[in-house]
Amino acid sequence: MLDLAGRTAFVTGGASGIGLALGRAFAEAGMNVMLADIERDALAAAVASLRDVGPEVRGVACDVTDPDSVDRAARAAFDAFGKVHVVCNNAGVAGGGGIDDLSLDSWRWVLDVNLMGVLHGIRAFLPHIRGHGEGGHVVNTASMAGMTAGLGFSPYTASKYAVVGMSEGLALQLQPFGIGVSVLCPGYVRTRIGESGRNRAERYGPSRTPDPASPAGALVAYIAEQLKAGLDPSDVAARVLAAIRDNRLYVFTHPEMRPEFDQRIAAIDAAMDEAAAW
Ligand SMILES: NC(=O)c1ccc[n+]([C@@H]2O[C@H](COP(=O)([O-])OP(=O)(O)OC[C@H]3O[C@@H](n4cnc5c(N)ncnc54)[C@H](O)[C@@H]3O)[C@@H](O)[C@H]2O)c1
Repeated sequence: MLDLAGRTAFVTGGASGIGLALGRAFAEAGMNVMLADIERDALAAAVASLRDVGPEVRGVACDVTDPDSVDRAARAAFDAFGKVHVVCNNAGVAGGGGIDDLSLDSWRWVLDVNLMGVLHGIRAFLPHIRGHGEGGHVVNTASMAGMTAGLGFSPYTASKYAVVGMSEGLALQLQPFGIGVSVLCPGYVRTRIGESGRNRAERYGPSRTPDPASPAGALVAYIAEQLKAGLDPSDVAARVLAAIRDNRLYVFTHPEMRPEFDQRIAAIDAAMDEAAAW
């Protein structure tokens, strides 16, 4: 999809961080934009902040864990703009993790938002994009946590590996329809992901803050520092737009994290060699 101007983009998690930066970049590229988010006040502020950028930016309340809510948000986009061409399944939360945190509530919350949320977006928009036949692009936000397991035993890592796998499979199947797929795998980006608990629905129980003296507490503090020093979300968005235009599957933003990934691939290669020599 080389020509973005005049098309429409739909972005979940569009009220903050990477989603908001994507919304701005799409608007600057001449696209109509629908921002979808669970946090209504932040959403209204996000839409207002983009008022004079691009042709038209609107917002719709949406909880990506609920397929009906995502369907309703999709219909709002169709009603507002007719056709949607670019869908960014970007909403995500960080929470839980480590061998001392085995709370099922945390696992369900993170998997519902980060994994099922992506699936709900694909289900809501794919028939529409195939139907209008003008081409399109699906962007799924994963993470470098979908490439290496440095965070340890964590629902976040599990969700992001899953998003990488489903994006790779989707890309294969959509190629014949002229619909591209990109999977965004950033390292640390300066956003509010460290405060994800602000949007944790009651049904998932309370967010627990780990004891700062525990290994989990130390990891949370380390991540908070890394996020503060992270990449600007606008840099991430610029790379995503380039990947859409060039129809590239993988979008990486932190090449300095490559050694950890190379280590994993080397270990897999070695295991394959062992299997071959069996
Ligand atoms: N910030 C990073 O370092 C980083 C790194 C790798 C990947 N990511 C991924 O980037 C994506 C965007 O996160 P961010 O860093 O911009 O964080 P952020 O907290 O700034 O933005 C996330 C947005 O998602 C929304 N959201 C949360 N739950 C939702 C739900 N159930 N339904 C709809 N919207 C919901 C939030 O309200 C928020 O506006 C996430 O998928 C995250 O996992 C972030």
